[in-house]
Amino acid sequence: MRLDKFLCETTDLTRSLAKKALHRGEVSVDGEMTKNPAVQVGEGSAVDWLGERLTPFGLRYLMMNKPPGVECTTRAGRYQTVLELIDLPKVERLHPVGRLDVDTTGLILLTDDGQWSHRVTSPRTRCPKVYLATLAEPLEGGELDRAIDSFAKGLLLDGEHKPTQPAGLEALSSERFRITVTDGKYHQVRRMFAAIGNRIDTLHRESIGPLVLDPDLEPGECRMLRDEEIAAF
Ligand code: URA
Repeated sequence: MRLDKFLCETTDLTRSLAKKALHRGEVSVDGEMTKNPAVQVGEGSAVDWLGERLTPFGLRYLMMNKPPGVECTTRAGRYQTVLELIDLPKVERLHPVGRLDVDTTGLILLTDDGQWSHRVTSPRTRCPKVYLATLAEPLEGGELDRAIDSFAKGLLLDGEHKPTQPAGLEALSSERFRITVTDGKYHQVRRMFAAIGNRIDTLHRESIGPLVLDPDLEPGECRMLRDEEIAAF
């Protein structure tokens, strides 16, 4: 590829800033300073900018502990976005894998690999997603038994034609529940509790398939996925 394109792909420079950097003599290819933006560079080329070796990013995969009040979107809007919390070059190339509501916290994956993201979110993958919910109203006794049964059989949510896939409901107390769903409808978990006459106060995602939120990540922090985590999908 052209040297100016390579500079844009591997740094925060725009095309015109890359040309200016070249013009100032800040760039060398295989040890030779060059000012020519059209020079062709390839995988074997050693490109340095201001004395630092530049390497192509390749595809990137991250997990974040999403804090409340942050939106899973790539576009600026009313709320801060997950991308605005990430301190990496070319962050705009990443997208969140699926969505969490603005008030939902916990595990969100981000990548620039569209195929990988499709594998994670595709309904065909039937990937279990595990959530912790605090309810507005206690749920116990016979009502809890009926809720477990309804979740397991599938619930017909408002505005849907098909019931939800069988879901797990585990009581941790009369207000705290662990929920496992394999589909990913809009506001699914909140709507499932609405369908049984309750309401969610807080919702937190613990895991997506084999990927569990890293306990070392504070809200708002993210880390790159390890090779085996990427290969899990
Ligand atoms: N279900 C919801 O209702 N909200 C989320 O953020 C995720 C799952």
